[in-house]
Amino acid sequence: MIAPTAPAYKLPKEFLWGFATASFQVEGSLDVDGRGKSVWDEFSRQPGKTLDGRDGDVATDSYKLWKEDLDLLVSYGVTSYRFSIAWSRIIPLGGRNDPVNEQGIQFYSNLIDALLARGIVPFVTIYHWDLPQALHDRYGGWLNKEEIVKDYVNYSRICFERFGDRVKYWLTMNEPWCISVLAYGRGVFAPGRSSDRMRSPEGDSSTEPWIVGHSVILSHAYAAKLYREEFKPHQGGQIGITLNGDWSIPYDDSPQNIEAAQHALDVAIGWFADPIYLGHYPEYLRTMLGDRLPVFTADELAVVKGSSDFYGMNTYTTNLCKAGGDDEFQGKVEYTFTRPDGTQLGTQAHCAWLQDYPEGFRDLLNYLWKRYRKPIYVTENGFAVKDENNKPVEEALSDADRVQYFRGTTTALLAAVAEDGVDIRAYFGWSLLDNFEWADGYVTRFGVTYVDYETQKRYPKASAKFICQWFKEYVEKDELPM
Ligand code: NOJ
Repeated sequence: MIAPTAPAYKLPKEFLWGFATASFQVEGSLDVDGRGKSVWDEFSRQPGKTLDGRDGDVATDSYKLWKEDLDLLVSYGVTSYRFSIAWSRIIPLGGRNDPVNEQGIQFYSNLIDALLARGIVPFVTIYHWDLPQALHDRYGGWLNKEEIVKDYVNYSRICFERFGDRVKYWLTMNEPWCISVLAYGRGVFAPGRSSDRMRSPEGDSSTEPWIVGHSVILSHAYAAKLYREEFKPHQGGQIGITLNGDWSIPYDDSPQNIEAAQHALDVAIGWFADPIYLGHYPEYLRTMLGDRLPVFTADELAVVKGSSDFYGMNTYTTNLCKAGGDDEFQGKVEYTFTRPDGTQLGTQAHCAWLQDYPEGFRDLLNYLWKRYRKPIYVTENGFAVKDENNKPVEEALSDADRVQYFRGTTTALLAAVAEDGVDIRAYFGWSLLDNFEWADGYVTRFGVTYVDYETQKRYPKASAKFICQWFKEYVEKDELPM
């Protein structure tokens, strides 16, 4: 049951809603205004790394067309916009002793000013996967804890110094699980490392993803500490991390599958959320990895525990979980969308990993709220309609499956707030635009706005209209003066 029994319920007027993007997925203009290279620049140009063989050189051209994107946001009536800053536009070589690029600062400063001038709250991700190439070349990027933590904190400091007078919502990192597993375990994201993952009769041997995850947690935590000590007292904003995590349900009632569903949550979500909110890695992860899981020193742990003001939640789907399989990154759990009776969990998206199951969205909200007790900001949620890429524009604009998806999740969100008492403060649909979907290239479209990549023209889809009307209806408005 996802429909709230209190349909008259309204979200408070401070509730933020809007759409999200990320620098590398939309900006293009990779060599413009002093930007340094990121690991995704070269990676996406290598044959075979993206489904359609296309790279991020132009994307949705938003570095040039940002004012058009802004007009779209205004036409949608959003109250907030989530975007990310490209580290290599701010510090082209990335490091703490490297020069700062004023042109890069100016670009984001203009964007922030323009958002505020239109009454739109900037919700800023400091790192969304575009690591400066120079840091990878210099010392192995996220693999080198000592160096990367210092460089990341220095980069964050510049963001707080230069934008913090106007930005009141900071996300340190986007989806550490993807950074760790997809980029350093499966090798499908930049910088494409997977050689460390060798399977032998003795068991798994990967070390890099776990080292990377550890560095990401520490970088987040030390940046949050810096913000709280030196900036928050006079800037007064919120800082937190955003984690990906889908809901997990047991395939059937068997004890091993019930346990498998919890293991899936421990490995995907608990890996990051447990240290940050509870102060320790999940027991299951520790047993699974033994001494391959890095250990926090007591000093580090004191910084990590409680380092996020809120729970940033990116979520897309629900998995049915069965014990078994040989995928160590999933915690020896097999995922499926097919129920024991052969039916599917929900409508299939274009990408194999996503089906529409809004009940899972509500259950996940409840799980996170009960376990971590922090206000939740839904920082991403969205759907890629099957074969949308092959449809003529007019047809793609009637994105009924995406509308259905958003109807489900928004209804579930309202029910979670109104009936379950979950403290949810924001919702961002992914994404404002169709854009560069990483290893999927441009084949998989997540936008509520269709982008014609030949002309870069933008066309609002039905889903944009749906979301905007929904939030306008369900968020309280300011009382008009009598
Ligand atoms: C999560 C990521 O943050 C975003 O970059 C990506 O495009 C969406 N999921 C869809 O896969």
